[in-house]
Amino acid sequence: MARMAKVVELPSIAKIDKSQGKISAQLTQALREAVQSGDLQSGDPLPSSRELAQTLGVARGTIIEAYDQLLAEGVFDSQARTGTYVSHALVKTTAQQHAKKETFKRTSISLTKSALSYAQVLKEFKPLPHVPFAVSVPVGRTKPSDVWRKFGNKFRSRGAGAPSGYGEPQGVLSLRIAIADYVRRSRSVHCEPDQIVITPGIQQALYICSQILFEAKDEVWIEDPAYRGTTAIFEHAVQNIGMVRVPVDEEGIQVEAGIKLSKHARAAFVTPSHQYPLGMPMSLARRTALLAWAKQQNAWIIEDDYDSELRYNGQPFPSLQGMAPDQVIYLGTFSKVLFPSLRLGYAVLPKELVAPFCGLRVLIDRHPPAADQHVLAAFIQEGYLERHIRRIRNVYAEVREHIIGLIDKYIPQELAWLQPGDQGMHMVLWLAPHINDIEVASTAVNADIAIKAISSTFSKERQRSGLIIGLSDFEPELLQQAIKKLSKIIQQHAKPM
Ligand SMILES: Cc1ncc(COP(=O)(O)O)c(C=O)c1O
Repeated sequence: MARMAKVVELPSIAKIDKSQGKISAQLTQALREAVQSGDLQSGDPLPSSRELAQTLGVARGTIIEAYDQLLAEGVFDSQARTGTYVSHALVKTTAQQHAKKETFKRTSISLTKSALSYAQVLKEFKPLPHVPFAVSVPVGRTKPSDVWRKFGNKFRSRGAGAPSGYGEPQGVLSLRIAIADYVRRSRSVHCEPDQIVITPGIQQALYICSQILFEAKDEVWIEDPAYRGTTAIFEHAVQNIGMVRVPVDEEGIQVEAGIKLSKHARAAFVTPSHQYPLGMPMSLARRTALLAWAKQQNAWIIEDDYDSELRYNGQPFPSLQGMAPDQVIYLGTFSKVLFPSLRLGYAVLPKELVAPFCGLRVLIDRHPPAADQHVLAAFIQEGYLERHIRRIRNVYAEVREHIIGLIDKYIPQELAWLQPGDQGMHMVLWLAPHINDIEVASTAVNADIAIKAISSTFSKERQRSGLIIGLSDFEPELLQQAIKKLSKIIQQHAKPM
């Protein structure tokens, strides 16, 4: 078989002009300048003389002549096995240092308001380190089993999950079939696979809803407190839509208050299984009232069902979607029961919303990566997901009990008290009002304790101080050390300054 000529990518040699004199001299100069400017740096390998000669269409001797000159100057070095490369001994030239600095130079073009505002979002959503009490870190006994790895190897290399062309914006059909079956059994969600769109988690689905459900000047109900991933969208990524914060009590969103504040709102974003961040389910009375309001007003309900699978006592309420499939957009995620870096979730949509939803998603990311969708479809279809959920439910229940005991033992009750909830992957530790939760959380993160302040989930008027404690399965001793440290931090911040 004929050997294919390798094309060498070395932009600095593009300026060589065969009609302008000696090529080896031009090449020497071009490569020397590339080193001076920083395009080529110490240790960078050079193409072999044969490859470069083929690319330039010149005799190999021409290249050897240029390389020999740069070897003699100490710019290049060569070794029998590694070939020719830019000398390690080369100290960075001022031009290189300058070139490096240039990349960090601020542009003189002033940034738009929205650019500045998105930069703020990035700061706020910086992921916490994977230490106690980060939420949904797949450590210890909650890691997916070996089957996940085996399925990964199997489906990525062969069959439908192997590298392919562009896929369906709606997501892989086998996964949509598996999810339709799973949510029907576990959550009483009624849908056909063609109503499901696979998303990279709930976050994208929340964003798409914010873009396709509203006209200018519409209003939307958002729980108070609520998930920052939702409120941040309406603060930063949406204009001309009024966010109406509707207070939440122990039964969930106060529908009557919502009606008083904004009867004609176009939609309500809610977390009925496990109110975020407070942790209780929405009562049946509130579910009925919410659906009655939505029906009367022709409003959408966006049901964020982010961690309904982890219930520790009693039976879960069925989904709102099952009670009003034409009005509810049901959002689920595998970030909690599997792991967040998987970036797979789903939206179950009333049929007429599927096309607009997919249309916007095409503009964002075309479709989710296909390989993991096939892995997940098989994982669900063969019963491993539900087995995994049963296993981790016991683990999280155990970790939860352990942390409740530690808080009871080590944290002074007059400074902090727990609202454990009966499901999910986090608990709320309320702080005495004079303790600033943002300061406590930031000191804690510097001491390798990953907690979030709860105050940012509230509107300004209803702010309370507290911490979100995740239940990831870190070693019991590590959790104990972390609670002891956290107790000290809380006590330090409780002292009058
Ligand atoms: C209430 C709630 N909704 C949605 C999400 C988003 O999850 P993801 O985008 O990873 O699916 C989270 C993540 O923590 C959450 O807590």
